[in-house]
Amino acid sequence: MFPRHLAHTVFIMPLRITVLGNAPESDRELIASCAQHLCAGAGVEAIVRAAAPGADEGPTNAFVSYVECSADAVRDAFARLPIGTGERIPFFQRVDTPDFPAFLTQFPVFGTFESPLSPAGAYTLCTSIVQHEKFMEQNRALMGEVVKYRKQKHQLIKIGTALSSQNDLGSLLAMILAESRDLVGADAGSIYVRERSGPGKPFTNQLRFITSQNDSVDVAAKSKEFTIPIDQNSIAGHVALSGEALNISDVYRIDESVPYKFGKNFEREFGYRVKSMLTVPLTNLAGLVVGVVQLMNKKRDPARRLTDQSLVDWQVVEFNYSDEDFVRTIASLAAVSVERVQLHEDIQQIFEGFLDSSIAAVDERDRVTSGHSRRVMGYALSFADAINAASDGPFAKEHFSEARMRQFKFAALLHDIGKIGVPEALLTKETRIARGEFAGVLSRFEIVRSQILFGNTDAQPPWDSVEALDEDRAFVEKLNRSGFVGDQDLERLSRIRDKRYRDSSGHEQVMLGDAEWEALSVRKGNLTAEERDLINSHAVSTWRILSKIPWTSELENIPDIAAHHHEKLDGSGYPDGLRAEELSLEARILAAVDIYEALVSQDRPYKPAMPPDKAIGILRFEVKDGHLDGDVVEFFVEKGIHRIFFEQSPAAEK
Ligand SMILES: [Fe+2]
Ligand SMILES: [Fe+2]
Repeated sequence: MFPRHLAHTVFIMPLRITVLGNAPESDRELIASCAQHLCAGAGVEAIVRAAAPGADEGPTNAFVSYVECSADAVRDAFARLPIGTGERIPFFQRVDTPDFPAFLTQFPVFGTFESPLSPAGAYTLCTSIVQHEKFMEQNRALMGEVVKYRKQKHQLIKIGTALSSQNDLGSLLAMILAESRDLVGADAGSIYVRERSGPGKPFTNQLRFITSQNDSVDVAAKSKEFTIPIDQNSIAGHVALSGEALNISDVYRIDESVPYKFGKNFEREFGYRVKSMLTVPLTNLAGLVVGVVQLMNKKRDPARRLTDQSLVDWQVVEFNYSDEDFVRTIASLAAVSVERVQLHEDIQQIFEGFLDSSIAAVDERDRVTSGHSRRVMGYALSFADAINAASDGPFAKEHFSEARMRQFKFAALLHDIGKIGVPEALLTKETRIARGEFAGVLSRFEIVRSQILFGNTDAQPPWDSVEALDEDRAFVEKLNRSGFVGDQDLERLSRIRDKRYRDSSGHEQVMLGDAEWEALSVRKGNLTAEERDLINSHAVSTWRILSKIPWTSELENIPDIAAHHHEKLDGSGYPDGLRAEELSLEARILAAVDIYEALVSQDRPYKPAMPPDKAIGILRFEVKDGHLDGDVVEFFVEKGIHRIFFEQSPAAEK
């Protein structure tokens, strides 16, 4: 007999048998009574009805066909049809006629019977139908399971690949949680990561709550990070401590004898009822728990939202063994990824810390321009951001990926690292002759002055009067403070240079030595050609220092970009005299923002800061002269990048 416990799984709908063709009334009655009899035991209603062949009769479990066709046609039908794989069962009467209805070829043929039916024949027919339907239903259920497992297996492979390609811890954790929930149909979930005392430092005994996801209530806006101790009191703490997964069917029915309790804070805050809960540790290869995944409320229908208590009661079910298995598998993949990403972040932090201290070392040597590298980096990154946001204009086709952005960031930050090899006195030089050496020049004027005043020498002093000497001295002092040196200035300076006096030992001395003459006669600026070369050599040093670092392939252009920040489009720059087409976009941006930053810089005591608009005017001259890229300079202005540091401190703009 048809087993009662299969009633629900086998016949969700009543058993409907449709009789096709001209069945004798007696056959129909026999089929109907046998079917009723078989189904009565299973509590299922059987309906036997007659229909015209091909008519749409709605859901039907089986067709019993009375058709007239030849024996050959029937054999043909058996040979062609995939018996037992269809959804419907046609039985048909065997009569020697030449016609075989075409529509029946779409159904598998299960057997034949003689009409009129005997009670035994009708019973056999109906039993076959019921057995077949039972078999098909179980088959469908099994196929459903197979499809589900196959989907989960594919999802696991996909998750494994996705996890290994994620390099950001926050995104990685969100992905682990989302995929775990999706795989088992959980309405909500949270993820915790074990705290460490610092980058690269050992783990502590605290779990940090990182993120929560919930299909039914909005938790994203309100959820804040917090820590809980790894101990027996909380469910997550207990799982982290024991390293064992915990599957709880109802958190309100946790046995009194266990040490952990369900914390109701979350429920109170969000008005969200938690029932079933699966908590799984993320255990690394060394067997250490590095985090915890907590899934809540497995739903019968994953698409439903749990908006009230009755839905929770009906929809929420216990997590099963296969859920545990799948989440454990994800957790072990996830633990390795979490560790890998943490290691990656550690290395990055240590590396950036190292870069910071290198830049601090450069800043330390040249306090007046300290902060320059960081501000150049700020302009450069804002520039790249603006390029990414622009859909038209000269840079519409350019895009700064995360990796390209990082490369640009480091290149900008490190562009002047080569200054570490330039003598400090040169970096901080504010006058044509450095202060200490200039004191020597002034002392000669003092000696001659006293000789004029007190006549304490036999030789004739090189100036006739103190007034004339003081005027020349003031002139030399003025020249030393830079400014432009004209032809008349040079003539006057050479007259001073040619003067001789006798020191207290009677030896002839010059008023200006060769090096002093060379320094004071520099037409523009306060550096001699030799000093200028030495300062310019910082670009080569930048390249030399940076090319020693074994950059990854994503960052390999850092030395080139950084070292070419003084190149000019017409090839007149240094260190390599590259031309426009040989310069990367990054190097061209860096060249412009480097000059701009130096002009508007607020912290040079000997030079008033230049207003941004005036500095832009100078950049535009540089464009006209073929030094800077016009598209870069105009984009810089148009997007307001040149004002970013001024907007932060409006007072700085004078
Ligand atoms: Fe530089
Ligand atoms: Fe610079």
